[in-house]
Amino acid sequence: MRLKIAMICSIFLFMATKVNSYVGITWGRQQSQQLVPSVVVDLLLQNKIPALRLMTSGYDIIEVFSATNISISITLGNQFVWQAHRKDLAYEWVNDRIKDPINKGVNIVEVTVGSEPFSNTFLKEAKSDNMASVLRLMRETLDEVGLGYVKTTTGHGIDVLKVTKFPSEADFRDDIKGPMLDSLDQFNKTGAPFVLYMFPIYFVKEVLNYTMEFAFLDNKSGFKIQDGNFTYTNAVELMIDSLAWALKKAGYPNIKIVIGQIGWPTDGYPHANVKNAERFHKGFLKFLASNKGTPLRPGPIDAFLHSLSDENQFRTMFGAFQRHWGIYESNGNPKYKIDFSLQDRDEYPTQAKGIVKMPNRWCKFNGDRSNMNLVNKNYDLACKEADCTRLEKGGSCDGLSFESKISYAFNAYFQKYKQKVETCDFDGLGEIVATNPTVKDCEFPIEILAFQDQVELNGMVLRI
Ligand SMILES: *[C@@H]1O[C@H](CO)[C@@H](O)[C@H](O)[C@H]1NC(C)=O
Ligand SMILES: *[C@@H]1O[C@H](CO)[C@@H](O)[C@H](O)[C@H]1NC(C)=O
Ligand SMILES: *[C@@H]1O[C@H](CO)[C@@H](O)[C@H](O)[C@H]1NC(C)=O
Ligand SMILES: *[C@@H]1O[C@H](CO)[C@@H](O)[C@H](O)[C@H]1NC(C)=O
Ligand SMILES: *[C@@H]1O[C@H](CO)[C@@H](O)[C@H](O)[C@H]1NC(C)=O
Repeated sequence: MRLKIAMICSIFLFMATKVNSYVGITWGRQQSQQLVPSVVVDLLLQNKIPALRLMTSGYDIIEVFSATNISISITLGNQFVWQAHRKDLAYEWVNDRIKDPINKGVNIVEVTVGSEPFSNTFLKEAKSDNMASVLRLMRETLDEVGLGYVKTTTGHGIDVLKVTKFPSEADFRDDIKGPMLDSLDQFNKTGAPFVLYMFPIYFVKEVLNYTMEFAFLDNKSGFKIQDGNFTYTNAVELMIDSLAWALKKAGYPNIKIVIGQIGWPTDGYPHANVKNAERFHKGFLKFLASNKGTPLRPGPIDAFLHSLSDENQFRTMFGAFQRHWGIYESNGNPKYKIDFSLQDRDEYPTQAKGIVKMPNRWCKFNGDRSNMNLVNKNYDLACKEADCTRLEKGGSCDGLSFESKISYAFNAYFQKYKQKVETCDFDGLGEIVATNPTVKDCEFPIEILAFQDQVELNGMVLRI
């Protein structure tokens, strides 16, 4: 008996000490030209990224990950929660999106029901009271089809908390406390993690209004927040501990916190650039690798870097930066050095292989300013459909000359429509050119040949 207890204790000790932080990545697909899923699989394998948080539940995407052993978390987006809000629908959804792919060898470990349903700043379209019941239904259904090990949770922004200066003062917002406690009870009962989406760049500027240095983890500025016996030299630890305090006060001090999204945009916001994104990730990954955790939650932390690639059709209600989270450009080129293996190597990650780009052709404004109404009309038309966020204040293409600005917009539209000749007409104001019109730091991108698209190249129809 004594021996048995000793053995059990040592097994627990072994488990407790063996665990390390891991880092995964998120992938959303709100792009005009989407990466081919098999290319993304290859990218994750080459870079040895063990986990993926899929911000979609598209069947054809999930299936591609069979036999890879990459842990997949599937997100049932806010707009799609209705797809599983009744018993029969939940059953169908689980069979189609979870059970069937698992049978085909996809390593699905979690379903995230809803993205920031309690948010009052980011996404409002999901009813938070509905969310807890769908969460419950999802749990029951998974249990019934024999998938008890697949966790069910919800993604939350940091704005589920009241704004406070000190982590020890943090608590959940009063207006969401009821449904929040309901969710927490479910998480606790089922052993699911609390998934936190956190964006230090935005939090430090808009919420804390501290020096941006506080968003980085390399502790260069000396700026710190003293909270009782705890010292915070960066926003990341402060944000995690604020949540940890709120969980503790709610009566659930042990719910695991997983960082479901964290990252640094490279355009469209003050301090959003490649240099800072590299610096942020370097510090953050070093912090993860140390396994030291935070003052209130010492130990390993699991995190998902946001995001694999830019999404040029993502909503921009909080700013242009929302389209520029990618560690990779939308064409599969890495933007900066980052070591996913947590060894702090100073290297670029592997480039995506097998990506086919459109030919080197751009659309530009021919410079005819005789009818400015027509010019402005066409500029507006182009930017209404294509992504012009880099032209906005603070963006990398802010400050272009008038003509270059019009050209940028025309080109974005032309690329979005796969370089079809007629999409560079613009009432006779556009011209197709073979020399790159890129101006200094403002790149005029060429799009890639995309998944699920019929593409005509030199008269040939390619099925990608
Ligand atoms: C699959 O991944 C898990 C971790 O998620 C690991 O423990 C296991 O060894 C891996 N299996 C294979 C065959 O690589
Ligand atoms: C949370 O779960 C643990 C066991 O998993 C249980 O002992 C504890 O009472 C739960 N806490 C609450 C507040 O329900
Ligand atoms: C942010 O802080 C600065 C001083 O550091 C102050 O001038 C400014 O008014 C503050 N902004 C807001 C919105 O509180
Ligand atoms: C950060 O720097 C301060 C001195 O400015 C030092 O006291 C503190 O230990 C450092 N913290 C970390 C986490 O390196
Ligand atoms: C802070 O640390 C001191 C000395 O270790 C200890 O006596 C005190 O109880 C601590 N305060 C809190 C709030 O934990």
